Amino acid sequence: MNKEEYINSIKKVIITEEQIREKVKEAGKYVESLYDGKPILLISILNGSFVFAADLAREINVPCEIAFMVAKSYVGSESSGDVNIILDIDKDLSEYNVVIAEDIVDTGRTLKKVCEILKSRSPHSFKVVSFLDKPKRRVVDFKADYVLFTIPDTFIVGYGLDYNDYFRNLPYIAEL
Ligand code: IMP
Ligand code: MG
Repeated sequence: MNKEEYINSIKKVIITEEQIREKVKEAGKYVESLYDGKPILLISILNGSFVFAADLAREINVPCEIAFMVAKSYVGSESSGDVNIILDIDKDLSEYNVVIAEDIVDTGRTLKKVCEILKSRSPHSFKVVSFLDKPKRRVVDFKADYVLFTIPDTFIVGYGLDYNDYFRNLPYIAEL
């Protein structure tokens, strides 16, 4: 893809940087409210949530650790249905208020699997914060505890979300 093709493939901005900033601040307040003396463990599900998790982390003003998990389930714009945990965390979750930071709940498969695994490790508390939610796409029963934006069933990129690994670095959410 040349530079012109790259620029032209970004069709329409769906969520602006300003809208994102405002919602991330509110989400930070929500995470802070979960602090009860035990620290927050913010778990960023890579790769998609790296931008959101970094912004969210900086809006959390209570004791907070950050960890990463890699879960893969996507090829191009089609969900493969398979979820593989490629990088896991090795902390005693009973000592933490665990908060998952995810980019999007789409079919729900990724988070359902990740949550099953983490909940079986007896976290002190457990919540899921998802930047985006596409409820129309759900194929398994899953609901995040906190969603910043609910969007229709269109494929979007930016703010961590990719198409074939491109566009993750866009500072806004756009349609291709
Ligand atoms: P799931 O279908 O809920 O398991 O979501 C799997 C992953 O697909 C998400 O974590 C995203 O990384 C990716 N994904 C889902 N919808 C989109 C989209 O519209 N754009 C880019 N990535 C997406
Ligand atoms: Mg993802």
